[in-house]
Amino acid sequence: MSDETHETQDAQGSSAEEGGEDSTPTAGVDNLPKTIWWEDGKVRMIDQSRLPLVGDVLECDNYAAVCWAIKGMAVRGAPALGVAAALAVALWVEHQATYINDPSEFFGGLEEVVAEIKATRPTAVNLHWGAERMRHVANSLEGNELADIRAALMKEAFEIVEEDEARNRMIGKHGAELLEANSKVLTHCNAGSLATAFFGTALGVIFTAFDEGKIEHVWVDETRPVLQGARLTTWELMTAGVPCALVTDSMAGFLMGSGAVDAVIVGADRIAANGDVANKIGTYSLAILAHEHGIPFYVAAPTSTIDLLISDGSEIEIEHRDPDEVTGITWSGVYEPADPVATQAFEALTAAGQFELEMQRGHKMLVSRKGGAYQIDGWARFAPIGVPVLNPAFDVTPAKYVTAIITERGVARPDYEMSLAVLSMGSKGIHELNLS
Ligand code: MRU
Repeated sequence: MSDETHETQDAQGSSAEEGGEDSTPTAGVDNLPKTIWWEDGKVRMIDQSRLPLVGDVLECDNYAAVCWAIKGMAVRGAPALGVAAALAVALWVEHQATYINDPSEFFGGLEEVVAEIKATRPTAVNLHWGAERMRHVANSLEGNELADIRAALMKEAFEIVEEDEARNRMIGKHGAELLEANSKVLTHCNAGSLATAFFGTALGVIFTAFDEGKIEHVWVDETRPVLQGARLTTWELMTAGVPCALVTDSMAGFLMGSGAVDAVIVGADRIAANGDVANKIGTYSLAILAHEHGIPFYVAAPTSTIDLLISDGSEIEIEHRDPDEVTGITWSGVYEPADPVATQAFEALTAAGQFELEMQRGHKMLVSRKGGAYQIDGWARFAPIGVPVLNPAFDVTPAKYVTAIITERGVARPDYEMSLAVLSMGSKGIHELNLS
């Protein structure tokens, strides 16, 4: 894995006045970068773990590097994870499996790679779906020449990347129809372009509705503890020129109570057959608040997020993450020394590679060279050493609090058992991939 500097937009984007032929403001979604893509036999992705203050493009030339990026949340968000999984298999096909001539060795290797990719994170079904869709293609061609199977796998991976944006644009279209003019919308986590190959799901709805003149304002929950809202969603909205403001998660009730929210729109990591929705921790509380205030609560997700293999949310495995996410804060920056003495000092510090400072109270700082400058990645503790911590990354919102589920194939409404089953028919969802 290597990385190169990618200049991210400075989060100002085009102003509302710049866009559109008439006076309707236009979301400058095209100012956003692609999230993850295939280039010159490698998988490239924006490193989301450090956005928006550092914008690097990571380059992966083997599937294990993609697994590492998924675990470290360089790539995250359910649909983007589906794409990452498919492209990780493609890397194995292109680089390692080219030299395999024995079919049983090929299929055995593929099984292992798929299992390894699926083990990176448990909750977002899209990750499993992306890997399983690749395995399904290979299995359905068993008995054919390995060269043909490899070619089919590469084609499938590229299709998964392309389909993702097309699906999101359809979600945007269907979702925008549900919003009234001048809506004030609240969103949680990042279900934006960065959570997909491009365009986003919940933010896709917001971008589309903004183009239709329906969005007055977007409230962005910061989304403790990893701050996807504060770091990623605000950056996307500002880059696209959509008016927004950052609030802490605990302010949602205040906003709803004061009439400042007309609709809540979030994404999803897994939707059970009965419409229960797993999404970023804090989503459940928002849904109850919205219910109490009579505010519609919309979930925007592709059909690849629907898991008809599970009947309700109790079967969804919730990922628990590192307590350090809760007890401290990570930060990153690039230091360009202005005077030669500082340069000398930093050169000496990093002469043998990355230099790690273990500070008192457990604060950490990692210094590494970056072009002519130095990358500094820090973690600062704010909770007492040894405090017990619980860090579930997702929660499950019961279907009864979900007003509608917006997919690329249309909008599902209660009774979700029926509407989700109908929408998912022939969708190549996880239930159609003959899991063994
Ligand atoms: O832990 P993350 O950042 O991968 O969690 C992401 C979310 O919970 C998103 O809301 C969800 O994946 C929908 S993304 C379109």
